[in-house]
Amino acid sequence: MSIQLTPSQLRAVERKKITLPDLRQKKEQGRPITMLTAYDYPTAKAIDEAGVDVILVGDSLGMVVLGYPNTLQVTMEDMLHHCRAVARGAKTALLVGDMPFLSYQVSTQEAVRNAGRFLQEGGMEAVKLEGGRERAETIRAIVAAGIPVMGHLGLTPQSIHQLGGFRAQGRHAEAALRLLEDALVLQEAGCFSLVLESVPRQLAAYITQHLEIPTIGIGAGEGCDGQVLVTHDLLGLFDRFTPRFAKQYAQLYSTMRTAFAQYVAEVQAGLFPDKEHSLEMSEAEWRSFLQQAATFSPGQRAETSLR
Ligand code: KIV
Repeated sequence: MSIQLTPSQLRAVERKKITLPDLRQKKEQGRPITMLTAYDYPTAKAIDEAGVDVILVGDSLGMVVLGYPNTLQVTMEDMLHHCRAVARGAKTALLVGDMPFLSYQVSTQEAVRNAGRFLQEGGMEAVKLEGGRERAETIRAIVAAGIPVMGHLGLTPQSIHQLGGFRAQGRHAEAALRLLEDALVLQEAGCFSLVLESVPRQLAAYITQHLEIPTIGIGAGEGCDGQVLVTHDLLGLFDRFTPRFAKQYAQLYSTMRTAFAQYVAEVQAGLFPDKEHSLEMSEAEWRSFLQQAATFSPGQRAETSLR
């Protein structure tokens, strides 16, 4: 089902800066939180103007923008480069930077330093990292440094080799219980919010009801406090696959392909550029140019300009 937008919903949203307490308040009031990924200036600007609460510069960047098979090759430098572009485009959404593989797993000290770089060099306001109880100490240290942390449980793409691929998680009672325990540990460690990815809807709703911090679901059903999608999935901009849980609100990849093919055809047919898309000199200036040009040979012109 989709809804028809009113003119006021299409206008750029005017609002004050979204903060962590705003998200907590939304959970308490049962108002859904919206989150989308962005990796560049124009997309961040459009998402922000549409009134999305949180923009995540996700390490999904590696797959949907950089063309890697998974997120494991994304570096801190890749992330910071794209974070800066997003920060220039978004004015009011809460900005969260995704810590890439090996930027927080090696040592607590390195994790705090890298988390800090997202704020200091990337213009982000919080970081996200993947994992359960094994990350509790790291999360405590980052939060103690004054950096808000969003957790990420369920399908954690940085562990795909351990998980055996991009598979749903928590489908059996024992695994579900472990996810619930992990969620409680992450809350206790100081996370301000949790992403739940590819977990059964009943489990996501149960975890959400048993946490004080908001949950943001992706492939986790309607019972979470908020929803997130990878923007390239929402826009139909990623050609390799679309996850079953992602709803496509546009088909921009085919729109792009058509536009590029049209450009090629028009240039080849001599239809572009036409007069409308070209600059023109006034008749007088053109005549004057032709007169002056006729008095110079190319050799003389070079000598004159050297003098
Ligand atoms: O990297 C990403 O885009 C994410 C979202 C799927 C939550 O982690």
